[in-house]
Amino acid sequence: MRARILQLLRQNEDGYLSGEAISEKLAISRTAVWKHIRALKEAGYQIEAHPRCGYSLQQAPDKLLPEEIYSRLNASTLGKKIHYFSKVTSTNTEAKKLAESGCQEGTVVLAEEQENGRGRISRGWFSPPGQGIWLSVVLRPALSPYEISKCTLMAAVAVYKAILRVTGIKCGIKWPNDILYQGKKLVGILTELNAEVDAVNYIVIGIGINVNIAAEDFPSEIKSIATSLAVAAGESVSRLELVCAVLEELEKSYQAVLQQGFGEVLTEWRSYSATLGKEVSVIGANESYVGKALDIAEDGALLVQVADKIERVVAGDISIRTI
Ligand code: BTN
Repeated sequence: MRARILQLLRQNEDGYLSGEAISEKLAISRTAVWKHIRALKEAGYQIEAHPRCGYSLQQAPDKLLPEEIYSRLNASTLGKKIHYFSKVTSTNTEAKKLAESGCQEGTVVLAEEQENGRGRISRGWFSPPGQGIWLSVVLRPALSPYEISKCTLMAAVAVYKAILRVTGIKCGIKWPNDILYQGKKLVGILTELNAEVDAVNYIVIGIGINVNIAAEDFPSEIKSIATSLAVAAGESVSRLELVCAVLEELEKSYQAVLQQGFGEVLTEWRSYSATLGKEVSVIGANESYVGKALDIAEDGALLVQVADKIERVVAGDISIRTI
């Protein structure tokens, strides 16, 4: 209902809209209108109330409020239900709790800030308030657990396309799923799986996008390796537009995967790759080596030429060597 009230106020952006008009258009009582307006103000909307003319929306907060997303989002499953937090430990942790309690596929958890954002390989993820997109999506794909690592590639492709659509910035994907701009990390993706031996119960795809973080605000230990879209674009980027684009692109890629398999995703991943053709260092649990990244295999593994052998990298991390 709040989304619809906002929509009416926005259609009337230059002037005022009376409580009576809103109540008639939405078939709710004047008291209900008043209560919704009060809740919107509490959420940070500046709404002027004039005794004779009614309400006028002056300014919306720079927040990823579900009402704002619902009214813009063009997707049928992803983001139909959004759980929004000002602050949370980790959106992936919240999403896993929701998945355990049977939430519907496509449920999204979003937070303005994470106190303990989690990254791959037990690393942390810097998640300051109001400057990024810290988001997790619950999916329940009818796929074998062995296929799930390719869902991370799918998410990277979707985020790459969303960034290009909203900002025009062409990034590169570093295997398996980091998105880089000029060699620095913009986006990280953490996919967590809950499965039986032969069936997936759910996956949580957690996406962290550095949107409006100023270069000097990154902690010293990641300053030289991290960047944000605002730094890349030279101006701030709309988090709302980007979050909607991410959910829309992810839904399209996911539908395509369910209907036709991963072929198209792998082709797109190859063309957006910042890894293929480059010299890479592979940092494994037991050994490390250097080679040339040749391709990704049909199962998502990175194929690396080391002397006259081709190694398959299925997990862990790589770094791209600058020569
Ligand atoms: C990585 O590159 O190591 C993955 C980082 C993933 C960060 C995102 S932010 C939203 C979601 N919640 C988390 O705790 N982690 C992921």
